[in-house]
Parts: sequence; structure tokens; C-alpha cells
Amino acid sequence: MTHLSPITVFFFILSFFICNSAITQSAIHGVNAIHHPILAYDGMVATQHHEASKVGIEILKKGGNAIDAAVAVGFSLAVVLPRAGNLGGGGFMLVHLAEEEKTIALNYREIAPFKSKQDMYLDKNGEVDVDLFNQSYHSVGVPGSVAGLIGALEDYGTLTLEEVIAPAIRLAKEGFVITHDLEKILIKYENRLRKCPNASKIFYPSPNTFYKMGDLLIQKDLAWSLEQISREGKEAFYKGAIAKKLVADMKNNGGLINKKDLKKYQVTKVKPILGTYRDYEIQSMPPPSSGGVHLIQILNILEDYDLKNMGHNTAECIHHMVEAMRLAYADRSKHLGDPAFVEVPAQGIISKEYAKLLRNKINADVANKSEDILAGEPKDFESEETTHFSVADNKGNVVSNTYTLNFSFGSGYVAKGTGILLNNEMGDFAAKPGAIDAYGLVGGKANAVEAGKRPLSSMTPTIVLKDGKPYLITGSPGGSRIITTVLQTILNTIDHGMNVSDASHAIRIHHQWYPDVLFHEAALNADTKNLLKNKGHNLEVRAAMGSTQSIMIVDGIFLGASDPRRPDAKCIGF
Ligand code: GLY
Repeated sequence: MTHLSPITVFFFILSFFICNSAITQSAIHGVNAIHHPILAYDGMVATQHHEASKVGIEILKKGGNAIDAAVAVGFSLAVVLPRAGNLGGGGFMLVHLAEEEKTIALNYREIAPFKSKQDMYLDKNGEVDVDLFNQSYHSVGVPGSVAGLIGALEDYGTLTLEEVIAPAIRLAKEGFVITHDLEKILIKYENRLRKCPNASKIFYPSPNTFYKMGDLLIQKDLAWSLEQISREGKEAFYKGAIAKKLVADMKNNGGLINKKDLKKYQVTKVKPILGTYRDYEIQSMPPPSSGGVHLIQILNILEDYDLKNMGHNTAECIHHMVEAMRLAYADRSKHLGDPAFVEVPAQGIISKEYAKLLRNKINADVANKSEDILAGEPKDFESEETTHFSVADNKGNVVSNTYTLNFSFGSGYVAKGTGILLNNEMGDFAAKPGAIDAYGLVGGKANAVEAGKRPLSSMTPTIVLKDGKPYLITGSPGGSRIITTVLQTILNTIDHGMNVSDASHAIRIHHQWYPDVLFHEAALNADTKNLLKNKGHNLEVRAAMGSTQSIMIVDGIFLGASDPRRPDAKCIGF
């Protein structure tokens, strides 16, 4: 072996540090940083509510790993972010285990109750009864969140359920301070929540008044449910005291879920869907989420274009992104559904060869018309709500989790005596193939309602790896816009050299094939808009899109950013 002099070793070590710190500097500052990321060395949690982020950090500081912290965050968000955090909904989690160098995808999406029938949302004229579909006891899918969170803890956590659920019980029992955002959202969704006396009792001080910012929101029934889960585990929810109350509530209100539905609920563990983009690996959620498939499909189409040179949010760059989005969402409507029930050609859709074929359909100068891509019916979006959180520990483990009740506060119904808001996830099925859902998405036969099936989702919890190690952990709410929001966070960092905070702040656009409209946030440059119109795009301003919660890891240093679009969100590191 060659002998190195001490002076050579000294310069070798020095150059290593200089080189690495240069990488970190560029990750912090990006090409031209305006917003600085949160910086930390031991652990990081990014969620849509500061109280839940504090809980995650409390668990990490106690010696818990990223999975312990993520489960604690999941239970806590059910208390402090009632419009999306949940026990009565479902979602998807990616767990990356550093020691085993592997990532597992947990599917804890809701399931259609056994009494479900394909045409159960159609009226006597064969049209979709929108209220029955989206806002009734028939809209509720069998919830998966409790099984999903506990399953993750049992398989990959290190602390007890009692330890990770304690902060959520505390927040429900002692209350938490109502923020300006929660005050406003409870006013906005008054009709949805006041229609249910159980919900009204929790979220409003009296029939005609509202809570104000600074008031405490105490949720005694929810604390009771969390205590049952803490003592009995998931059995409490699927077979025990909570199950009894859920089933009684369903019976009293004509709901579909029965004892057998709850007892049979299973989380499934699968491999993430895998792709590459330039020098990076992409790991995301496979079907029944459409998120990972179409994220990778769009990245594959775009990989051949020099987006960096086109420039961020220039008309040329947006045009190519939109044309790729249009093609992907057309495929979504036809091919995507629950793979346990239908054949989903996921590997074909994410192949580089298919991307090459699709690129042939893109004209650099002129926008396609969606009607030429595949037939469909235009319709507008409705509101939506979901929430994402990202967690990283100092051992290299990371969690990327997106879960939801579907709409804000789901169905708006709370099962009597439980404090648990029930989802309206059945609304993510195609009530009638070819019809459009609440997000304006066209649903195909593959996503038709069937007993025991999971509705198609757009949730896209994602981990981007560099040299085999997690580099970017991200995800977002936003219904159909989730996929394009995650896409833009990735493009902003990889192609446009932004740091994670600038990438989260940057103006977003969205296209989903139908309606044939290029949606954009208000601040998109007027020159860009004019050039896009000249290419044939129909532009429309939309409210802020998404709420990414992202962590970037560079040289073992955590750089994080919570999306500024939601005021209660907070990324905390230590
Ligand atoms: N409920 C929204 C989604 O799963 O995509």
C-alpha cells in the first residue's frame, strides 16, 4: 500500500471539506437564492401545522427514529389540522430505511365497503347524484389511517404506540390554540360541518357563533378515541370500542360500512414505483395512486428537453411541461385504477420508450388541443384538501407521507361519540365511466366502483435519491394538482438549480388534459402569459396550488422548507 505523508493526508481532508461545503453552499443558495431553507444537523420535520411539527421533533429528540416521529405527526395532525389530518381517512407512506438501503410503500388507502355497487351513485336518469357521491354517508370509504400509522410503527418504529400517540392525546384533551387560518376555514366550511350535530358540537361554540383565533379547541371525544387506540392498538378502531360506535353511526345514518368491512381492512406493503430523471432516482407511490406513475411519466417526457436553458417559468419551458402533463392526464383517465382489481400498465406508462413516442406528439411552437388527444368533457375543479409531511432522522431514515379525508373535513360527518371525521373518499371513484369527478378529472372503467376496491388517488409522496441516498423528500395536497406540484418542486431543484425553499415558493402552473386550460398562480409574468396564449394555450388564474412539505439532504445536512401557501405550516429542525 502506498504510504501517504501526514501533509498529504491533511490536504486530502481539507479538500474534502472544502469540496463538500461547496456542495452544501450551492444547495443552500441555489443559483440565486431569495428564500433560505431551514438548516439542521440532527433531524427535521416539515408539516402543515406547527404543533404537529413540534411533536415530530419531540419524538426525534426522545431518541425515536423518523418512523416514530412520522406516526406521532400523523396522529397529531388528526387533532390540530382537522380538515385533512385524520383517523377517518387514508393515505400512502414511503419509508426509507438507511441500514437496509431500501424503501417500502405502505398503501393505507380507504376501501369501498362490501355493500358497494358500480351504479350506486346514479339517479333514475342514469346521471351521477353529486351529493350522494361526494357528501353523504355513502361517500365514506373504510378508513385506513389508523391501520397504516400503527402498521408503520410496528414494522419500522422503535418506540411504543403509547409514546408516539401521547402528544396527540394531550393536544385533543388540553386543546390547542386556534389560528387565523383555522378560524377562517371553520367559517368557510360551516355548511359542511353544521349539517352534522356531532361535528357542529366540536367545531362551533354554539349554533350561531364561531371560534376566534386564540381560542382553545378541545376535542374530548377524539381524545377518548386516541386513548382507546393507545391502549388496544388498531383493534380498538377495527374491532373494539371505536368500531362499535362507527358501525352504530353508519346504521343510524344509512351508511354502508359494517362490522365485517372494518374487521377485514388490511394495509398493503408494496415496492415504490421507480424511475430516473437525469442523475437522480425517483421513488414514489404506485397504483392505486396515479401520482408516482404520472410523475415519472412526465419527467421521462421532459428529460429530453433542456429545461435549464429554456429558463424557469419561461413560455417555452411551461409549454413543454404543459404538453407533457396533458398527455399524462389523458392516460390517467383511461388506464389507472386499483391494481388489485384491474390491469394497470404502469411499467409501460413509465418506460423511456413510451416517453419517446409521446414526445413526438409535442410541437415546440403550438399547443395541442385536448380533444385531439382523447375524448372527454370539460368541467371545473372543486375544493380539495389533503396533507403531506416529511420527516428525516440522523441515521438516514426518511418518511414521505400523504394522507387525506378527500375534501376539507371529508364528508363533514363525525361518527357519534368518537370525534372522528369521516372521509368522502368514495368520490375519488369514477361514479360513471367517462364522467368527471370533483377535481374535473375524467374517470375511466378502470376506476369504477367495486366492493373491496380502492379508489384512484393523485397523492404523490416522493423520495428523490442521489447516489443511492435520499436527496429530496417531498409531497403535497391539491387533488389533481398534487402530481404537477411535486413535479415542479423536482424540476425547480434539479433543472433550475433552486434551493428547496425557492423551489417551494416559485409560481406554479397546472394542466390536466381536461378541462383544456392552463391554470397558473396569479403572479405569473404577463409576458410569459402572452407568449403562451400565442402558442394556443387557454390560460386561467387559480388560487394558490399545493402545500409542499420538503426536506433536502446534502452532505448529511438537512435543508427544509414548508410551503408558504399555508400559514400554519412549519418546518423545524434541530
Ligand atoms: N382525495 C384526493 C386524492 O386521493 O388524490
